[in-house]
Amino acid sequence: MELKSSDKNQYLNNESIRLPHGMVYIETYGCQMNVNDSEVVASILEANGYAITSNLEDSDVILINTCSIRENAETRVWGRLDVFRQYKKKKPSLLIGVLGCMAERLKTKFLEEDKLVDMVVGPDAYRELPILLRSAEDGQRGINVLLSREETYADINPVRLDKNKVSAFVSIMRGCNNMCSYCVVPFVRGGERSRDPKTIVREVEELIYSGYREVTLLGQNVDSYSWVYENGDRVSFSELLEMVAKLNSILRIRFSTSHPKDLSDEVLYTMAMYENICNHIHLPVQSGSTRILELMNRGYTREYYIKRIESIRQILPDCSISSDIISGFCTETELDHDQTLSLMQWSGFDFAYMFKYSERPNTKAARKYSDDIPEEIKTRRLTEIIELQGKLSEESKKKDIGKTFEVLVEGISKKSNNHYYGRTSQNKVVVFPKAGSKVGDYVNVVVLSSTPATLLGEILVS
Ligand code: 5AD
Ligand code: SF4
Repeated sequence: MELKSSDKNQYLNNESIRLPHGMVYIETYGCQMNVNDSEVVASILEANGYAITSNLEDSDVILINTCSIRENAETRVWGRLDVFRQYKKKKPSLLIGVLGCMAERLKTKFLEEDKLVDMVVGPDAYRELPILLRSAEDGQRGINVLLSREETYADINPVRLDKNKVSAFVSIMRGCNNMCSYCVVPFVRGGERSRDPKTIVREVEELIYSGYREVTLLGQNVDSYSWVYENGDRVSFSELLEMVAKLNSILRIRFSTSHPKDLSDEVLYTMAMYENICNHIHLPVQSGSTRILELMNRGYTREYYIKRIESIRQILPDCSISSDIISGFCTETELDHDQTLSLMQWSGFDFAYMFKYSERPNTKAARKYSDDIPEEIKTRRLTEIIELQGKLSEESKKKDIGKTFEVLVEGISKKSNNHYYGRTSQNKVVVFPKAGSKVGDYVNVVVLSSTPATLLGEILVS
C-alpha cells in the first residue's frame, strides 16, 4: 500500500487512528439511492480498516458504483473504466471494483472482458466487500452479485460523503416490486423490502445529534413502505413519516420517490400536519397517455393521475410537484405525445427529469414490444417536452417573486463567496447574500427575482 505524505500525516498525526489497510476512492453514478449505497460501502470499509479518500491519485482501490437505468448511464461508466485503465498502468497494484446496478446486470462480463476489473459486487452484497478486497489483494479476482430478500443494511450507519453536513439521505427500503415494463431496477436491485423503523429512527436521531438539519427518506416506491412487527402491528409510510417528523421540529423531512398508484391521502394529511415535512412531492407520471401508461404497466390512468394532483392541491395548497417523463416509448403516437404535453401543462410541474426511452435488455418492453420510435422523433418530442417544462419551471419561479420563504442554508453559492444557497420547503434553490447567517441556519428569505435555475432573494431581518 502506498500513501501520499499528506495522507500519511493525516493518519500519523492522529494517534488514535491506525494506518489504514488502503485508501479507497469511490465514484458514484445514478440515483440518490446509489449515493446512499456508496455511503454504506464507505462505512463497511472503514469498519474493516480502510480509509476513504476523495482523491483518485491517492487511492489503492477505486470503486465505481454504477447505474443501468439507461444505456447512456452505462456508456459513461465504460468511459470511466477506460480512464482508470491509465491509472492502473502507472500503478499495477491498484485494485478496481465495479459495484451496483451494472455489476448486477452484467455480472461476469467485467471479469471476462479484460484484466482491468478485480471485483464485481451487486447492490445486496456490499458486506462481502472486505473479503473480496482481501482476496483481490492476494491476486484473486472475485464476484458476488447475489440478490437478497432481506438485506436492508439496517444496522449500518452510512459514512456521510456529502460536503455540506446539513442534509443526508436515509434509505427506508430497497428494491422494487412494480415491474414497469421499461425498467431494469427490479432486475438489478431485486424485490422490495422495508427497513426496520427502529433503525431508521436511530439513524435519524444520530444525524440530528451530529448537526444535520434535513433528511431525505429514500426508496424506489416509498408509499409501499410496510414494516410488520412480530405481534402483527404494521407501520405504514405515513406512520413512519410521522415518527421521523416528531423526533425534532428543527429537522426537515423530504422523501422520494412517490408512486401515483400508491400515494395515499394519509401521507398528504401527515404532510399537512407537520410543518417540518417539506411541501414537495416527486410524482413521476412518465406519460400523459392512458394507452402508453398501460403498456408501461404503471398501474394508473391519466385521469387517476389528475385526481392525485387534485388531492395534493386540495390538501397541500403550497406543495410543489415534480415529475419524470419518458419520450418515445414503444408505439407512442403524436397523439400520445400531445397528451403528455397537455398533462404537463395541466399539472404545471415545478420541475421535471425528462428522458428519451432507452430499451433495457430483458425488461418486459424489450421482450414484448418493438423499440419502434425513430431516434429523431424521440429527440424532437423530448425537445418539445424540455421546452414546455422550461416555461412551466419559469412560471413556477415567477409566482414566488415577492413571497417570503423559510430557507435552510446549505452552502456557499457556486458563483459568489458572499452568497449562500439553500432550498425552500418546496425544494426550490434560493441564492441570497450571507448577511451574518451560517450554514445549517433557517432564514426567512424574500424572493426578489429569478433566473432559469434559481430564485434570488435576501434575508428578511425581523
Ligand atoms: N428509459 C428511459 N427512462 C427510464 N427511466 C427508467 N427506465 C427508463 C428507460 N428504460 C426513467 C423513469 C424513472 C426515472 C428514474 O428514470 O422516468 O422514473
Ligand atoms: Fe438507481 Fe435505478 Fe440507476 Fe440503479 S438503475 S442506480 S436503482 S436509477
